[in-house]
Amino acid sequence: MDTTTKSTTYTEFEKDVISGLKAYPKHLSSKFIYDQKGDKLFQDIMAMPEYYLTECEYNILKNQSPIIAEKFNLKEGFDLIELGAGDGKKTKLLLSHLSEIGANFTYLPVDISQNVLDELGSALENELPKVNFELLQGSYFQVLNQLSSYNKRQKVILVLGSNIGNLMHKDAIDFLKKIEENMSSEDLLFMGFDQKKHPQIILDAYNDPDGITEAFNKNLLERINKELDGNFQLDHFFHWETYDPETGTAKSYLVSQIDQNIKINKLDLDVSFKAWETIHTEISQKYDDETVEWLASQANLGIDKVFESDTGYYKNYTFKKL
Ligand code: AVI
Repeated sequence: MDTTTKSTTYTEFEKDVISGLKAYPKHLSSKFIYDQKGDKLFQDIMAMPEYYLTECEYNILKNQSPIIAEKFNLKEGFDLIELGAGDGKKTKLLLSHLSEIGANFTYLPVDISQNVLDELGSALENELPKVNFELLQGSYFQVLNQLSSYNKRQKVILVLGSNIGNLMHKDAIDFLKKIEENMSSEDLLFMGFDQKKHPQIILDAYNDPDGITEAFNKNLLERINKELDGNFQLDHFFHWETYDPETGTAKSYLVSQIDQNIKINKLDLDVSFKAWETIHTEISQKYDDETVEWLASQANLGIDKVFESDTGYYKNYTFKKL
């Protein structure tokens, strides 16, 4: 008798696909949108006129870097740690100001992708040759943990882009807690939060007429097809966005146009959809000061100062340990 049982170890993506597509209602996590194609589509989103978030944060860093820098320990020096550095377009505005005033600091961009870091490294060498930097490849918390014993001077942790908005409040608090655990009383967290505003402006930012956001959202299905041998037909689904002005939650869905059966061969999984059935793929939370203060307080952090974009659409906050 064969007593061996076949044990399968699934990747995080595979686990998410299995549990999300077996659930009712169905869901997939937006963090898996980002492969090479997803990264490129997100770059395209950031360049869209409707996606005001990037422009607003750029505006804050362009106009207010001198006031932001006053919060840093310019006397004894500091380490500027950026979680999810990307192309550094916005951060370079702050780096350029710090370099101009001759601040004593090291810039430590953290990213999971070595490729992204290498590109950022060469851009920094060319554009800001006086800035000291060290590229750190890894997951945010693995790196933050190493950095908490890195050296004694002030740590300024940057999280830009309202990336926290892709987390439900409970997960956002956990995220803030993990940062707080690695901060000392002198350290500072500088973070972007997209604000509540006219609902139409928000809907337009996630519903562009050229279908870039739709392609970004559908990249989840494309990844399943490519990596897990699935047979989703992308044009049998469409992108749908909602925004609830009461909770401030924008939600993205993929909606099935027809009754259909999908096979995901690598997972030995059959998934059936009724017409109009949904897959919930992303939340993009919008905030007000009260909500930001509440989230921070749950993680033992307090708001130190608020930096607002000209339009008031977007804010960056500095936080300290309570
Ligand atoms: C990365 N993140 C903050 C973006 C957002 O606004 O939620 C991702 C995005 N989804 C659709 N458009 C942009």
